[in-house]
Amino acid sequence: MKVAIPYFSATGNTEKMARAIGQRLQELGARVDYQDITALADRQQPLDMDQYDAAVFGSPIHSMRAPRLFRDWLATLDGQGKASAMFFTFGGFIIHPTHFDTRRRLEAVNFRVVASADFPGAHTYNLSGWQAMAGRPDQGDLDLAAQYAEAIHPRLSGADPTLAPELDPGPYSEQELDQFELGRYKMAPDLPNRDGQECQMCLLCQEQCPSGAMDAKKGEADRDKCIVCLGCVKNCPDQALSLSDMSKFFAWKMDKDQETPDSLRQKRGQLYL
Ligand SMILES: Cc1cc2nc3c(=O)[nH]c(=O)nc-3n(C[C@H](O)[C@H](O)[C@H](O)COP(=O)(O)O)c2cc1C
Ligand code: SF4
Ligand code: SF4
Repeated sequence: MKVAIPYFSATGNTEKMARAIGQRLQELGARVDYQDITALADRQQPLDMDQYDAAVFGSPIHSMRAPRLFRDWLATLDGQGKASAMFFTFGGFIIHPTHFDTRRRLEAVNFRVVASADFPGAHTYNLSGWQAMAGRPDQGDLDLAAQYAEAIHPRLSGADPTLAPELDPGPYSEQELDQFELGRYKMAPDLPNRDGQECQMCLLCQEQCPSGAMDAKKGEADRDKCIVCLGCVKNCPDQALSLSDMSKFFAWKMDKDQETPDSLRQKRGQLYL
């Protein structure tokens, strides 16, 4: 069996889980191709399912769904009726309807969806004042990813015809979810910028930006395009990029979602089999 693992990962959590799932699938005899579709240029190609028996799609959860750019890329695919599994990483807060919504989108392009999973990952906004899920994914999360790979292997190969169970549609309408998606700009009034700092001008921030928002020469993100994924901030070799401090919003978010440092720490991933 040949399996494609396309993944979107701005700050590396989802990539770690993709590799853990892929490694176990390989140990079980599958041939695995990883496809990093985070950068804008990497999403110009669709996934060619002529070459694969099955696919495993991974992304972070951005505002209760997979990132819009990832959703748009999924819409360009043709699943040819083949099996797919999904997985997501999340920063300790609301997860649904990500699984439900992504399944719907995969089925719309003719994939069969056999399972889903979510795994904790350090919240992206820890880069600017939040303190959620630091140090995750940890060994327990990676072990759960290996367990997920074992469970989906027979479903991807066709040995087991079971499909994913019913998934939670969540309480929000599509319009409300779109509004939440826009809320991130209220939390980060200043988008990533170099704030006058010198840098080696390696252009990485521009080349790896998922949305084409970063202008390396200017050293600032275009507000109309930036999705606040913070890939540029995390991956700049000179640590020259920063954005507004968001610690005030962390306190607000913890209160709104009725979370405590302990309740966050205790969160585990979940398999939907
Ligand atoms: C714009 C944005 C929105 C996010 N929304 C959520 C969310 O709704 N729920 C949640 O638990 N985590 C949320 N997170 C945190 C990420 O899902 C989490 O940190 C993820 O592991 C990042 O993956 P990556 O390192 O592969 O980019 C959000 C992060 C960003 C940047
Ligand atoms: S990644 Fe950092 S060092 Fe490279 S061009 Fe961007 S700001 Fe400069
Ligand atoms: S400019 Fe915005 S979209 Fe581009 S990498 Fe930085 S945070 Fe992400």
